[in-house]
Amino acid sequence: MATTVLPPTRRDLRDAPFLAAAAGRRPSRIPIWLMRQAGRSLPEYRALRADTGMLQACVTPELICEITMQPVRRHGVDAAILFSDIVVPLHAAGVGVDIVAGTGPVVSRPVRSAEDVARLPELRVEQVARVTDAIGLLLRELGDTPLIGFAGAPFTLASYLVEGGPSRNHERTKALMRTAPDVWHALLDRLAGITITFLQAQVDAGVDAVQLFDSWAGALSERDYRRYVFPHSARVLTAMADAGVPRIHFGVGTGELLGAMAEAGTDVIGVDWRVPLDEAARRTGRRHPVQGNLDPAVLFADVASIEDEVCRIVAEGRAAPGHVFNLGHGVLPDTDPDVITRVVELVHSLEP
Ligand code: CP3
Repeated sequence: MATTVLPPTRRDLRDAPFLAAAAGRRPSRIPIWLMRQAGRSLPEYRALRADTGMLQACVTPELICEITMQPVRRHGVDAAILFSDIVVPLHAAGVGVDIVAGTGPVVSRPVRSAEDVARLPELRVEQVARVTDAIGLLLRELGDTPLIGFAGAPFTLASYLVEGGPSRNHERTKALMRTAPDVWHALLDRLAGITITFLQAQVDAGVDAVQLFDSWAGALSERDYRRYVFPHSARVLTAMADAGVPRIHFGVGTGELLGAMAEAGTDVIGVDWRVPLDEAARRTGRRHPVQGNLDPAVLFADVASIEDEVCRIVAEGRAAPGHVFNLGHGVLPDTDPDVITRVVELVHSLEP
């Protein structure tokens, strides 16, 4: 039976500060959102999640919608990010994976051989219907606030699958890419396919931007990144080039990779706190708006230090064609939410 493709429900939010900055146009104010803005720093999140496992929450449209809205209501951020997780599409496709509180994703059967890769399912769009349903709910709730969809990049997903869980050194992953490059590339090819399907489903459901999280790519040298990862991330980003929404490419500890990550095909380049934004702009040819890059740990310092850091980052961001203020990685769980609200107010008070 042919499925009916509904016309996209995308809202016209061109003048929203986040989308203006992401397009390199001057926004009415400096936009700010924070990675992991929905999550354990918020008491209302902890209350909602009390009786529900993480993955269960990620397939419950009403919960996804409510948790996504919480930081928008509380902090007045300029974008919502869909409450989900990078392993949600793997789980939806049938891969045995769970998210263990305090640990992260844990895979029941690590992927290390050609047979393991061959067994990996593809993702069919109807398997993420609960996520796309949640996006439909959100578009009605969000008013003029853009919604960011996201996915994990092939390398970061592969690291969880190969290691079987979170890893400090990614040694099995790095061993596999060298020892069995055919298996490695087949694995990343399969993961790129899943990621494209997941991102396209989110765009078709109406998200206003997409972020590709290659959180752990910073573990690689530029040479290895270009050889083992770049072609697959480039395939994902190129597939999204005509989606009509800005693409953001982000990783942690990726100072040496910023040029390559920009080349992979992105609109906005995400920057962690280790590289100043003016230097990040230089490393990416000043062609891309930057997103970042307050060290999440700075939110635990005194008010004057936080203000100094915010002002420094805003000043350095002016070297790029656009600046979306963010942290350099996710909000830490023990962060005082009132401090976050004050940072949002401060950024909004500065000259765009
Ligand atoms: O507000 C947002 O940014 C949206 C929510 C979001 C989550 N995961 C929710 C979540 C996003 C964007 C992610 C992506 C994600 N998940 C990444 C890439 C971003 C990054 O942080 O680098 C990665 C590497 C993962 C894998 C993962 N999932 C980890 C490392 C953890 C933390 C484990 C822990 O308990 O400390 C998770 C679980 C997770 N994902 C939580 C949340 C809110 C915590 C689970 C809980 O609240 O019980």
